[in-house]
Amino acid sequence: MITQEQLPMVAMPSMNDTHLEDIILINQLSAAAASKNVAATKIFLEELVEHTIAHFSGEEAMMQEHNFPPYPIHKAQHDRVLQEIKNVTKIFCEGEGDFSLVTAYVDGSLTPWLIDHIQTLDTVTAMFLVNATKAQS
Ligand SMILES: [Fe+2]
Ligand SMILES: [Fe+2]
Repeated sequence: MITQEQLPMVAMPSMNDTHLEDIILINQLSAAAASKNVAATKIFLEELVEHTIAHFSGEEAMMQEHNFPPYPIHKAQHDRVLQEIKNVTKIFCEGEGDFSLVTAYVDGSLTPWLIDHIQTLDTVTAMFLVNATKAQS
């Protein structure tokens, strides 16, 4: 469970909006897995995959547009985590409904990673993009 107050804010409002949607979805998924609701857990896992693809590809398109130098480092983190989310989704949906896998991954790995990622790479990226956009106008 992440509260809105725990969500680090970056310099770009559209990125903050996406991150807020992300934590709402993660909290819904975490609650569904904790209450052992198979249908809801599947739905929120699939929504999380879709939302994460849009979240990451949106940031990547902006970084490429403005030639953000550490793009490969940021993109590599995105690729790794998207693959993890896809793997957990596949294992849960094809298997016996392993709720402990979902809970351990979401609460123990994805949530702390996301907060750290926003505080570091997304924060630096947002500052760079805001300055690059200002320089253009
Ligand atoms: Fe982000
Ligand atoms: Fe990011």
